[in-house]
Amino acid sequence: QTIYRKDYAPPAYLVETVEMGFDLDPDLTRVATRLTLSRNPESDGKSVVLYGDGVQLVQLRMNGRELTRRGYALGNGVLEIFNAPEQVTLEIETAIHPALNTSLMGLYVSNGNFFTQCEAEGFRKITFFPDRPDVMAKYKVMLRADKKKYPVLLSNGNLIEQGDLGDGRHYALWEDPFKKPSYLFALVAGSLVCQEETCTLKSGREVLLQVWVEEGNLDKTQHAMDSLKHSIRWDEERYGLELDLDRFMIVAVGDFNMGAMENKGLNIFNTKYVLANPRIATDADYAGIESVVAHEYFHNWTGNRVTCRDWFQLSLKEGLTVFRDQEFSADMIGTDSGRAVKRIEDVRVLRQAQFPEDAGPMAHPVRPDSYVEINNFYTVTVYEKGAEVVRMYQTLLGRDGFRKGMDLYFERHDGHAVTCDDFRLAMADANGRDLSQFELWYSQAGTPRVKVETAYDAGQEAFEITLSQSCAPTPGQAEKKPFHIPVAVGLLDSQGLDMPLFLDGSGSAEAFTTAVLELTESSQTFRFKHVKEKPVPSVLRNFSAPVHLDIDYTEAELAFLMAHDSDAFNRWEAGQRLAMRRMLALVKTVREGGQADAGAAGPLHDAFRATLTDSRLDPAFQEFALTLPSETVLAEQLDVVDPHAIHAVRQAMRRSLAQALRGEWQIAYQANRTPGEYSPDAESAGKRGLKNLALAYLVELDDDAAHRLAQTQYDNANNMTDRIGALAALANSSAPGREQALARFYEDFEQEALVVDKWFSLQAMSRKTDVAAVRELMRHPAFTLKNPNRARSLIFSFCNGNPSQFHAADGSGYEFWAEQVIALNAINPQVAARLARTLDRWRKYEPALQQKMKAALQKVAATRSLSKDVLEVVTKS
Ligand code: ARG
Ligand code: ZN
Repeated sequence: QTIYRKDYAPPAYLVETVEMGFDLDPDLTRVATRLTLSRNPESDGKSVVLYGDGVQLVQLRMNGRELTRRGYALGNGVLEIFNAPEQVTLEIETAIHPALNTSLMGLYVSNGNFFTQCEAEGFRKITFFPDRPDVMAKYKVMLRADKKKYPVLLSNGNLIEQGDLGDGRHYALWEDPFKKPSYLFALVAGSLVCQEETCTLKSGREVLLQVWVEEGNLDKTQHAMDSLKHSIRWDEERYGLELDLDRFMIVAVGDFNMGAMENKGLNIFNTKYVLANPRIATDADYAGIESVVAHEYFHNWTGNRVTCRDWFQLSLKEGLTVFRDQEFSADMIGTDSGRAVKRIEDVRVLRQAQFPEDAGPMAHPVRPDSYVEINNFYTVTVYEKGAEVVRMYQTLLGRDGFRKGMDLYFERHDGHAVTCDDFRLAMADANGRDLSQFELWYSQAGTPRVKVETAYDAGQEAFEITLSQSCAPTPGQAEKKPFHIPVAVGLLDSQGLDMPLFLDGSGSAEAFTTAVLELTESSQTFRFKHVKEKPVPSVLRNFSAPVHLDIDYTEAELAFLMAHDSDAFNRWEAGQRLAMRRMLALVKTVREGGQADAGAAGPLHDAFRATLTDSRLDPAFQEFALTLPSETVLAEQLDVVDPHAIHAVRQAMRRSLAQALRGEWQIAYQANRTPGEYSPDAESAGKRGLKNLALAYLVELDDDAAHRLAQTQYDNANNMTDRIGALAALANSSAPGREQALARFYEDFEQEALVVDKWFSLQAMSRKTDVAAVRELMRHPAFTLKNPNRARSLIFSFCNGNPSQFHAADGSGYEFWAEQVIALNAINPQVAARLARTLDRWRKYEPALQQKMKAALQKVAATRSLSKDVLEVVTKS
């Protein structure tokens, strides 16, 4: 059953207060709820509509009187009370079974403790409720449980009372002073310990900060705590937004569907985004924790204080909050080159995951028009492309203009559930601009393509840039209107320096070095004056819009840009284009029966050598610049994908770069060691990144020297980044110590679930691991499909991260995929639906593989009792 955005209607009743009492027991938890409701003046409906999913209704009373089966209708997850009075008090008693809940939505048990996840529609698995985000109410929550087993009882807001109940049980009463939608409700109960600190806000108010974990993990909470404090400070400084509660809690849980959840005052996190120390966490883990802690904290304003009217507006909070966490992480690095590296990382994610989504069967607008299962729309389009859309406001309006828009947004909408249009109007009104065409970024799916043509007139000293845009059809949208696209441009002189820009018709005599051209029509020409020599244009600086850019450069121009562009993003981009061009040519050769001989890649080798040996460059930048476009990104460039040809070419290219630059890699390896105590700061992390990249290239040579280097690094590592870097290198090699290193790693870390995940994942992605080897790993005692992190570490890592093995010519990878989707479907539909998306792009593959993929999809589609999550994905494919 499909839900449409156009069918939105305000609720007939609004909820004022919610009081809940929980008698927590893993086998049978009783929930008593008292709601006060009143008719919504915005609606003329007279029915109270409540949703319930898998909950047993024990009793229902309205205004003090028990309702019999004649007083309401209950079916298909909807409880409807017809012709209800103006003011209603409902008392609802439900019974639920947390220990049997493997979906990890609603109330569930993880390692003996209770947790909740209510976004998007999990609250209805706890009780019957108008479970929709435009119903905001104040909550008071009483938790009762066995005191020994569940010494800690937490919910949203402030703790107002706690005590013993006498019979070995105790209670805690929590009150949240702010109105919130039900998806932000949370409770946690169990045996947990916390690190706590106080923090003084800008206003002088003191708040209590806590990070709750299982016993034994208190040596892994400091980084999350520091990240929280930095986030609080940053939101005050950049946006003038202060924490509105006296207490802010983060709780880590090992079984969790997503990254984390912004429940008011009680954020619940996947352990992966909380726990860190140098022994178990990599530099990437540290960075991930910092950004997810920030993301959830920032939701307190962008998501909680101002929330979404309906789930079609999800990007209102997610796109905006991702943008905010991206900016925060960039500011935490602090340097210009650090900011650029962060931007490159974010764009890599967009291209790797969102561009394919936008070009495939699940393509949808940032603000979707319909869905079957909302959980399937927590996508890279809603999150990452949504963040790009928010970033474009800032590019168009400037930082100050963007801030004005944010201020107006909160002034108008604090405490309300609103839409993406409301956000856009706040941006427009605060800046006196018409942003109506900008709406198309929300309503049209697909990645626009911008074509660049240039002409230089030496006599006139004029340089013209003509930009033309188009966008391929996506499901349900055959025709696309032109988008409003900011295109940041610079012009380089023959020395590689930025020319001063004089844009014709801009009315400004001021010279600047980057101009933001606003492309609003299908084709437009922009003219620069006083251009003394023929420039090399640098277009779409800092990736100013989420588009494909078609621009004809010669290899010499690309090498020139890679060496000189003042815009670090475009320096990186030039290198990627250079590599991409060479690799696509080689793929063609291989497809025509030739050899993947990358030996003759002269200009590419020279450009890479220049980057690798330029000591002025930031190592983190060098690492990205020297990493070839991924197999997925290459595949997206082709009409017919042959994953084996792509793999062969990328590998040949890596070997040739290893060979040609061997001496330089060795020097870089030595120069970027980080002796002494471990620190996850960006500078040291950048060095380790480049050093481990050097190691990975050297190991492509698969010789004794490289094996020894990796083995020595493994043996001497004092941190997880170096250890796993060495182990990954060994795992991809035929080093004699390979098996032993893998075995030893497991023995050393078997007590650390997050590290065991890394161990599975690294093997799943090793080029040496085929389908049979993955099946073998599934039989390992530490493997389970029930834990999402573990399932992702092995199954997802193999299906999504090991293309050459997954796409085995006999189709065994696809059969494996189908089996796992079916198995997961019975346990956890949300996780199953994620895995189901692996075959999204099946139509792009060469015919022999296509047929086998199709058969696997059909096998899943034909499975009995398929969840609507999985069904939606496979039917749309
Ligand atoms: N709002 C959370 C975040 O982005 C994501 C929760 C999504 N959960 C889900 N079951 N769909 O921070
Ligand atoms: Zn979020």
